[in-house]
Amino acid sequence: MSPHIAVVGSINADLFVRMPRLPGRGETVAGGEPEWFPGGKGANQAVAAARLGARVSMHGAVGNDAPGEMVLQNLAAAHVDLTHVRKVEIPTSVALVLVEETGENQIVIARGANDMVHVDDQAFEHIDAVIIQHEIPEAALLQVAAACSSLLCLNGAPVREIPDELRNRVDVLIVNEHEFESYGRPTRGVVVVTAGAGEAVAYQDGVAIARATPPRVNAVDTVGAGDTFVGAFVVALTSGLDVQSSLTRAVFAASLSTLSHGAQSGMPTAQEVDEFLGVQ
Ligand code: RIB
Repeated sequence: MSPHIAVVGSINADLFVRMPRLPGRGETVAGGEPEWFPGGKGANQAVAAARLGARVSMHGAVGNDAPGEMVLQNLAAAHVDLTHVRKVEIPTSVALVLVEETGENQIVIARGANDMVHVDDQAFEHIDAVIIQHEIPEAALLQVAAACSSLLCLNGAPVREIPDELRNRVDVLIVNEHEFESYGRPTRGVVVVTAGAGEAVAYQDGVAIARATPPRVNAVDTVGAGDTFVGAFVVALTSGLDVQSSLTRAVFAASLSTLSHGAQSGMPTAQEVDEFLGVQ
């Protein structure tokens, strides 16, 4: 039986601009043509989990506009349940994604409908896990912490203060190595630290309990790889795999996701991850 996962989080329209190098302070750099892609850490994690076989409910908000429609269409195409996505009277949030030739990127989020996300108390009945991130208001995260009785995974991105009510409730914290350094006090439970193409490590009570090195691939776009990792790790864990196997599947899924442009387009299916694991 496939796990049922709720993702409470951001839904963004990503405006990509590719350029030879990222601009410095006060500098203007000529870039390529603008490209729009569905994005937002919440929506990305929902699509990642759904493509890997989970039943996924998205909780979020979009504006009544074309960017919002684009992201909803992609979520629907991945069979994500949109019952808990509200249409609000302010624009869909937009992420301006600058990508230089080396693959290095910078992201600016223009605020919008993500500020209107909230959840109701009954939202998480019969759910195996809830995934949250830091692109929606803190009040919504605290509502989740109070309402959720299943596994709660926080992707601590971007870095932001974690209030104690949330810190004491989180079962799995997933961060990258830079975010990890910024969070002085760890949360309870399992803390997973990713490192891009480097080794991912899972800790429990400060002790490393699992490690996995991503396979080498010719990445064309790493935006969304972290979100694929989050979705894949939680799907694996709620499917009954242990932390080591979940970590291994997550690094393989994240590597596969870098082979296409845009955050959501390269997210693999469970079969694609199985085949990739089989040939390594
Ligand atoms: O994690 C990648 C995502 O971060 C992008 O899709 C962008 O929307 C930002 O939220």
